[in-house]
Amino acid sequence: MKAKITPTQQEVILDDGDIIVSKTDLKGRITYANRVFMRIANYPEKGLLHQQHNIVRHPDMPRGAFKLLWDTIGAKQEFFAYVKNMTSEGHFYWVFANVTPDMDERGQVVGYFSVRRKPKPSAVAAIQPIYREMLEAERQAGPAKAVEVSVALLTGKLKSLGTTYDRFILGL
Ligand SMILES: Cc1cc2nc3c(=O)[nH]c(=O)nc-3n(C[C@H](O)[C@H](O)[C@H](O)COP(=O)(O)O)c2cc1C
Repeated sequence: MKAKITPTQQEVILDDGDIIVSKTDLKGRITYANRVFMRIANYPEKGLLHQQHNIVRHPDMPRGAFKLLWDTIGAKQEFFAYVKNMTSEGHFYWVFANVTPDMDERGQVVGYFSVRRKPKPSAVAAIQPIYREMLEAERQAGPAKAVEVSVALLTGKLKSLGTTYDRFILGL
């Protein structure tokens, strides 16, 4: 069970060399966390292992973003995103995340693997208003329709820009 943490307005900024690494099982439970993850998110190893990866989820992140994540990795593809995460104290930290399926020698997906780095401030500035709009659309739609309207909003935006999700994100 996830403890209720109150978000603060304090930002934790990654160093250029910081690389956060984690692995999960097929259900998103953490099976490995590197030291940088423990330091930035401010959890001891035993506070992360076997926990759902949403332990660092920030309430400012729209649910639609995670729907795209799970759809993409579920289709055995890699996923890229700018993500606002939350530390154990409620502080926030932005990352540029890459999540990939972890496959065994027969190509069976056995879990997932994620590497996260310090994002470009200009990329965060570009994605933040989009996440805000998605979150607002989710609030207005209510829980049952939240993900659907939020993904539709993002898809519509990308279409009007004549681009795809990957091209847009990797071009920020
Ligand atoms: C390998 C991997 C890494 C993940 N990293 C994050 C992360 O850094 N932050 C986050 O909020 N969710 C991350 N997730 C997604 C969470 O599992 C979860 O779907 C998300 O936090 C939404 O929470 P919810 O399922 O409670 O709505 C990751 C998932 C996987 C498989």
